[in-house]
Amino acid sequence: MKSPHFSLLPFLLVVLFSLSGTTLAHSHEDFLHCLSLRSAKSDSISRVIYTQNNSSYSSILDASIQNYRFATPATPKPSVIVTPRQTSHIQATIYCSKKYGLQIRIRSGGHDVEGLSYVSEVPFVILDLLNFRAVEVDTKNKVAWVESGATIGELYYRIAEKSKTLAFPAGVCHTVGVGGHFSGGGYGMLMRKYGLAADHVIDAHLIDVNGRIIDRKSMGEDLFWAIRGGGGNTFGIVLAWKVKLVSIPAVVTVFTVNRDLEQNATKIVHRWQYIAHKLPDDIFTDVTITKVNSSQEGKKTIQAAFKALFLGGVDKLIPLIQDRFPELGLVKENCIEMSWVESILYFGGVSTKSSDVLLDRDALPKQFFKLKSDYLKEPIPESGFEGIWRTFSEKEAEFSFMMMVAFGGKMDAIPETELPYPHRAGNLYQASYLVGWSKEENAESQKYISWIRRLYSYMATYVSKSPREAYYNYRDLDIGTNNNGYTSYAQASIWGRKDFKNNFNRLVHVKTVVDPENFFKNEQSIPPISPPLKKKRH
Ligand SMILES: Cc1cc2nc3c(=O)[nH]c(=O)nc-3n(C[C@H](O)[C@H](O)[C@H](O)COP(=O)(O)OP(=O)(O)OC[C@H]3O[C@@H](n4cnc5c(N)ncnc54)[C@H](O)[C@@H]3O)c2cc1C
Ligand SMILES: *[C@@H]1O[C@H](CO)[C@@H](O)[C@H](O)[C@H]1NC(C)=O
Ligand SMILES: *[C@@H]1O[C@H](CO)[C@@H](O)[C@H](O)[C@H]1NC(C)=O
Ligand SMILES: *[C@@H]1O[C@H](CO)[C@@H](O)[C@H](O)[C@H]1NC(C)=O
Ligand SMILES: *[C@@H]1O[C@H](CO)[C@@H](O)[C@H](O)[C@H]1NC(C)=O
Repeated sequence: MKSPHFSLLPFLLVVLFSLSGTTLAHSHEDFLHCLSLRSAKSDSISRVIYTQNNSSYSSILDASIQNYRFATPATPKPSVIVTPRQTSHIQATIYCSKKYGLQIRIRSGGHDVEGLSYVSEVPFVILDLLNFRAVEVDTKNKVAWVESGATIGELYYRIAEKSKTLAFPAGVCHTVGVGGHFSGGGYGMLMRKYGLAADHVIDAHLIDVNGRIIDRKSMGEDLFWAIRGGGGNTFGIVLAWKVKLVSIPAVVTVFTVNRDLEQNATKIVHRWQYIAHKLPDDIFTDVTITKVNSSQEGKKTIQAAFKALFLGGVDKLIPLIQDRFPELGLVKENCIEMSWVESILYFGGVSTKSSDVLLDRDALPKQFFKLKSDYLKEPIPESGFEGIWRTFSEKEAEFSFMMMVAFGGKMDAIPETELPYPHRAGNLYQASYLVGWSKEENAESQKYISWIRRLYSYMATYVSKSPREAYYNYRDLDIGTNNNGYTSYAQASIWGRKDFKNNFNRLVHVKTVVDPENFFKNEQSIPPISPPLKKKRH
């Protein structure tokens, strides 16, 4: 039966679109006007403002997009991109966005897995911190100040330039930005020895919703706690972090051992689960599962790549692994001694030996992908792995992997409430799953996304429960999102408990104090509790 509403719909849509079109253009121009009024002549703010009229708008927008899923013509684009060169540009952007109802999306390294730093469903401005990227390393006091727009590669490079025995415990992929990375925790190959990047932040400069520049002392310990892992685009704009550096030996050892199903991969991966988290904390290991060509022509098999970083020489590592994990069959030929900064290149998969590549923001391949994460507190039985292999044998899994990252060590020693990141003691490892596809396949992206959701639901039996924990920085909107507009505590707690467990409540409390109107927000930002007495309507 034909509903009478049906024929009205096209008309209504036209009206709605033209209405929002006018308001959009209107607020957009008012916003630009506001920016120029708010900044002194000497500010030259016009040189850091890009609208769709500027020829470099697209190149600025695309420059740091890591997930091409959100770089299509159908992806909502920002009205304006501001690339501030001084704090007054940021303050003006906050003021005028508030005044004209534009949402702000803060972007540092652009690695947000779901594109939240550069995509929004409502009219928005990108505040891109690419010009805030100074790094100052003080080897004498073993600290550094690093501006948000710097990448972890730039930080690593500047440390290594000055010292062979200092390092920083953050991510593997060196193009990741410190702005988002530290805001969500940040882990890498030094995690078992030292913990997370956020565990090493000792001060920060933040611009709050009122445009005030505050540091650890003036923001207070609650807010300083919240910004070290409670998520970006939520509490304010982090300008810079002060971090504590860590000590490492001048020579470290790395290895990669590949085993496929014909080489007992199932048994060895199964065994790894009992061993990896109990190894001395000088050893970090992970396992990457992929589908590869089998030695039998035309067939596929599953390969497990066992990788490790050892903070010491090869002669100590080999007997240790042979004793604790003989099933791996590690031999000297698998191992390479190198400096810590070279190990970053090794694990990042860059073939060059020159650490200059750490300064290159485009050094690593970008792709179309979807990512999900889990934490494991019990080993998966061998039969469980058989089911994972079956899922990987499906054709959608051509460009996919599952990565198992050993926990234990320092992660067991830090209390769950120390920082917002709650996945500490009791985890054997973190698992993450990625599926990628090509540009040509992007029209059928749902096929691949369905595949990874199937894998994720298969894993439910084996992973953490109530809540099923997830890593905030491995952003996954499947686990829950805020509403556009008002978000209730109850709705946000659906995803919030998975990412933050009971720390979620303290985050909501801090947010309510520092940004009660919820100006800084996205689909997965902590909401304030709305003050019941401040109802504006009725
Ligand atoms: C290829 C790849 C490899 C990765 N490898 C690792 C890894 O080894 N270890 C790990 O822990 N994680 C890893 N991640 C996840 C990564 O830590 C997060 O995506 C992180 O949030 C990226 O930070 P960014 O500054 O690059 O991203 P952006 O997209 O710029 O920002 C991410 C979020 O933080 C907000 N934000 C950014 N800057 C600021 C700021 N200055 N102030 C306030 N909010 C801000 C953004 O609005 C957004 O919500 C990886 C991601 C990718 C895509
Ligand atoms: C972008 O264009 C506007 C005019 O439309 C101009 O005022 C501004 O300076 C341009 N921005 C840059 C960075 O060139
Ligand atoms: C962009 O250009 C169009 C025409 O070229 C003009 O009408 C419009 O005002 C410009 N917008 C801005 C923000 O400069
Ligand atoms: C696989 O394991 C069996 C014993 O369980 C062993 O005999 C065999 O050599 C192993 N194969 C490989 C390739 O390691
Ligand atoms: C795998 O095998 C296919 C042919 O069956 C071939 O085209 C492809 O290049 C191989 N891939 C690798 C990485 O060797």
